Amino acid sequence: MAKQEDIFKNVVSHAKEYGFIFPSSEVYDGLSAVYDYAQNGVELKKNIREYWWKAMVQMNDNIVGLDAAILMHPTTWKASGHVDAFNDPLIDNKDSKRRYRADVLIEDYAEKLNQKAVKEIEKAKVRFGDAFNEAEFVATNARVVEYKAKERAILERMARSLGNEDLADVKALIEELEIACPESGSRNWTEVRQFNLMFGTKLGASADSAMDLYLRPETAQGIFVNFLNVQKSGRMKIPFGIAQTGKAFRNEIVARQFIFRMREFEQMEMQFFVRPGEEMKHYEFWKEARLKWHLSLGLGRENYRFHDHEKLAHYANAAADIEFNFPFGFKELEGIHSRTDFDLKAHEQYSGRKLQYFDAELNQNYVPYVVETSVGLDRMFLAVFATSLKEETLEDGSTRTVLKLPTVLAPTKAAVLPLVKKDGLPEIAHQIIADLRWDFNVAYDEKDAVGRRYRRQDALGTPFCITVDHQTVEDQTVTIRHRDTMKQDRVKITDLKSIIENEVSMKNWLMKM
Ligand code: GAP
Repeated sequence: MAKQEDIFKNVVSHAKEYGFIFPSSEVYDGLSAVYDYAQNGVELKKNIREYWWKAMVQMNDNIVGLDAAILMHPTTWKASGHVDAFNDPLIDNKDSKRRYRADVLIEDYAEKLNQKAVKEIEKAKVRFGDAFNEAEFVATNARVVEYKAKERAILERMARSLGNEDLADVKALIEELEIACPESGSRNWTEVRQFNLMFGTKLGASADSAMDLYLRPETAQGIFVNFLNVQKSGRMKIPFGIAQTGKAFRNEIVARQFIFRMREFEQMEMQFFVRPGEEMKHYEFWKEARLKWHLSLGLGRENYRFHDHEKLAHYANAAADIEFNFPFGFKELEGIHSRTDFDLKAHEQYSGRKLQYFDAELNQNYVPYVVETSVGLDRMFLAVFATSLKEETLEDGSTRTVLKLPTVLAPTKAAVLPLVKKDGLPEIAHQIIADLRWDFNVAYDEKDAVGRRYRRQDALGTPFCITVDHQTVEDQTVTIRHRDTMKQDRVKITDLKSIIENEVSMKNWLMKM
C-alpha cells in the first residue's frame, strides 16, 4: 500500500499537472501557503460552492444569502474579540529554528495516545470476533482506560492554561510530556507567546489620515453587522439564517499541507439566529444536517467523525468539528459553533446601536443567540479531490489514474471526441457540444488516439466521454463511455442530455441527504 506521504505528494502533483491548482505567482518561486485555482480547479471549486449554496440557501425557506465586503470598519474586529484574542500560541525550537503552534504540538501528542487506544481496540476486535463488545472493552480494558484518561487530562490542562492565558504552563506541559521538535528531535524550546493572525492594511492616501484596517479573518462578522438590515428588509422571523461564501485571510504560522491551511482561503458560513435558551436544540440539528450534506457526496461514512471541543473559542458555549480523513489523517473540515449572543451584544456595545429582535409570539425584545456552521471551501476541495484520486489496475494488467469525483462536482461533465479528424466527424462533435453546453460544461478533444483521450478525461474526472464515429454519420448514434466502469453504450444523440442529466443533477445528489 502506498504511504500517506506518497499519496499526498501524488495529490499535489496531479492537481498541478492537470490544471487544478498552481502555487501563487510561481514565476517568482511562489508565495508560501497561497494558491491559484486553474482552469479545472476553478470549475470544481465553483461546483462545490453551488452545491453548498443550493442546500443551504435555496432549499431552505428561512435562510437567505449575503455578500458582504472583505474590508470592514476596524471596530468590527475590536468588538468581535479578534484584535485581542485571535492569537496562536507559538513556540520556537532553538536548534532547528522551526516555529510551531504550541497547542498543535500538544494535540498531536494526545492524538498518539488516542491512536494507541484505537490499536488495542482493533486487536481485541480480531481476537474476540463476533463476541466483541466494544463499549464494554473501552470501559474496562486497563490499557485503553489509561490511554484515554491520559489523553483527556492533557487536553483539559491545555484548555485550562490557554483559557487562563497561562502560557508558562503550556510550556511546562510540553516539557513534562517531553515533546521534541519533529525536525531536530531537540527539546530546546523558547517561551510560548501569542501571535495575532490578522493581516493589517491601510485605507486612505496620505500617511497621517490613513485608517488601519484588517483583511477579514472570517466571513461571519459581515453577517453579524448586517443582521438587522437583513431581518428588517427580508421580514425574517426567528429562527432564520444568513449564509455567505467568500475570502478570509489569516497569517497562519504553521502553513503547510497544501490547501489545507492557507493564508488566503474561502469560507462558506451560515449564522442561524435563534431564541436565547433554544440554541442547543438548533446546535444539535445543524451538527446532524451538516454531516448529512457531507455524506450525500458519497466519499464514505468512515472518512468523517465528530470532534467535540474541550477548548472553546472566546465566543462559544458549545462547539464541534466535523473531521475528515485527509491524506495526512483526520483533521477539521467544518466547525459548528454555538456562539451565544456574544457577537451581536459586542457590536451593540461598540456601535451604540441596538441589534435586537422583537419576538411577537413572546411579545419581547431580545438579542438572538447564534448557531454557526462554517466550512472551508478549499478544505472541501482537498477532501473531495484527494479521496477521488485513484490508481487502478485493469484486467489486462495495465494501470489507469482516475479522478472519481462525485459527478455533480466534476469540472467537465462530458468530453466529445471525434474518432478521426476527418469525414465530417469533427463537425458532428461540434454540433453535439453546441447543444449540450447550454446545460453542462462540456469539452472537445481530437488530439491523440481515442484510448489516450479516454485516459486524459479519466484523470480530469470527466464522467462521460462521447465518441463520434462513422456509424454516427449513418444513424445519429454515438458511444457514451462511463468513467468509473469504463462501460460503453451506443445511444442516440437526442438521448445524451437526459443520460447526463440523470447522473449529474444536483437534485438527484441532494435528494440523498
Ligand atoms: N467563523 C468561524 C470560523 O471562522 P474556524 O474554525 O476558524 O471558524 C472555519 O474556521 C473553517 O474555515 C474551518 O473548519 C476550515 O475549514 C476553514 N479554515 C480555517 N482556517 C483556514 C485556513 N488557514 N486555510 C484553509 N481553510 C481554513
